[in-house]
Amino acid sequence: MEANSEDMHATSQNTGHKKLYLRTFGCQMNEYDSQRMAQVLHGEYNLTPRPDDADLILINTCSIREKAENKVYSLVGRLKKFKEQRPDLIIGIGGCVAQQEGRRLLRRMPYVDLVFGPQGLYSLPSMLKEIENGKRGILCTELRDDFPIPLITSPLPEPNPVRTFVTIMQGCDNFCTYCIVPHVRGREVSRPPGDILAEIEAVLNEGVKEVTLLGQNVNSYGKKVDAYPSFSGLLRMVAGVPALRRLRFTTSHPRDLSRDVMECFQDLDTLCEHLHLPVQSGSTRILKRMNRHYTRDQYLKTIEELKSLCPEISLTTDLIVGFPGETDADFKDTLSLLRTVEFDQIFAFKYSPRPLTVAAGWSDDYIPEEIKAERLNRVFELQKEIGFRRYKAMEGRVEEVLVEGLSKKNTEELRGRTRGNHVVNFLGPQRLIGEFVNVKISKACYHSLRGKISSPAG
Ligand code: SAH
Ligand code: SF4
Ligand code: F3S
Repeated sequence: MEANSEDMHATSQNTGHKKLYLRTFGCQMNEYDSQRMAQVLHGEYNLTPRPDDADLILINTCSIREKAENKVYSLVGRLKKFKEQRPDLIIGIGGCVAQQEGRRLLRRMPYVDLVFGPQGLYSLPSMLKEIENGKRGILCTELRDDFPIPLITSPLPEPNPVRTFVTIMQGCDNFCTYCIVPHVRGREVSRPPGDILAEIEAVLNEGVKEVTLLGQNVNSYGKKVDAYPSFSGLLRMVAGVPALRRLRFTTSHPRDLSRDVMECFQDLDTLCEHLHLPVQSGSTRILKRMNRHYTRDQYLKTIEELKSLCPEISLTTDLIVGFPGETDADFKDTLSLLRTVEFDQIFAFKYSPRPLTVAAGWSDDYIPEEIKAERLNRVFELQKEIGFRRYKAMEGRVEEVLVEGLSKKNTEELRGRTRGNHVVNFLGPQRLIGEFVNVKISKACYHSLRGKISSPAG
């Protein structure tokens, strides 16, 4: 699932003197990578929420759709004036657009000092040294197939974090025909279970209550290394870590979701009852063109099996409308799949042709923009009705909520999350941030719930 672009800033109590403005676009992988950028620079740089105040500006970019890529260009364009005012300012572009564009970025934006891909972030300290010594236009976009993600256990950039991500594998080998990720993130490489456990222990020591294991395709964790457990084995190992209260994972590929993993929802108390299972399309014909390796019926069967093992599971999905060659009938199959599964929430996107991908060569089959927009609207209209009905059914229930912070709209209120990953807003004192409380759901809204604290949870 792709997160909305989010700023990551924090009032840090680090000892460094220089200031880093870090802006993150894209998915949870990028959020995790941004956290690591701050960690590798810890001691030298403190985070600042203000770009005009920074000594170093790092933009962690996303290339999943054209719109995401364009956002990067417009933001980086606006940074030019800071550089003109303060020539000592260092500007670096990291992440997936950096990986994709490499030297072209440096040519197009000569005021950028540094371009680095997802693997390049670990060389930030040495590259910054080179820049301080007068070097400019540094490029670090080598993509190694066997790149070991370093173990980092230094403090997280945000003080008192409630939840965090831990990457268990990088890259993707699936090559869905629309997707740029395998081209910018490289091949699938699983991390050693010992590193994963050590990183989890480290974040728990900092007070984290909820960990989400991350990968583009977590179900293939460990498949390439005999000595590593399978993904379900890893889940069982991690769930056994005593101080961990809540465990989640994302993203699963429907083709690889094994019975073992499904059973974990039944067996493991810490594993929250939520699964994000991107379907992409409800039409078997389109799924085949997307290279997804499952049919509509197989997807529906998986959902049925899951619901029978864990009836309370909350399901979310991603889907693409207007994939090349998508007919009205194919699109109707997507609508009917939404009606059958009844997701709590969906993330739907208009197909956007991406460089390097197979489908980008199918321009004869492109769907006109107006039709894509109309289909997207219809998907959202239908989901609004389904999601609201699902949320409405929660009214009156008492849910265990982990309090994450202040409510986004009304800072008089607290915001937290149920085990099913539903956001709940409610009145309560700030000291409850990071705690578990029982909340009685009083009202359903479209993407969140309102409630009232009924008691502290155990
Ligand atoms: N690894 C995850 C998804 C990562 S990308 C998975 O396999 O599901 C997040 C979402 O962006 C995808 O699920 C897909 O719905 C969407 N997406 C990817 N490429 C896209 C494209 N070219 N156009 C529109 N949406 C796209
Ligand atoms: Fe992209 Fe498909 Fe890999 Fe997900 S599984 S990252 S959609 S190629
Ligand atoms: Fe994530 Fe965007 Fe890269 S979705 S993997 S940041 S292209």
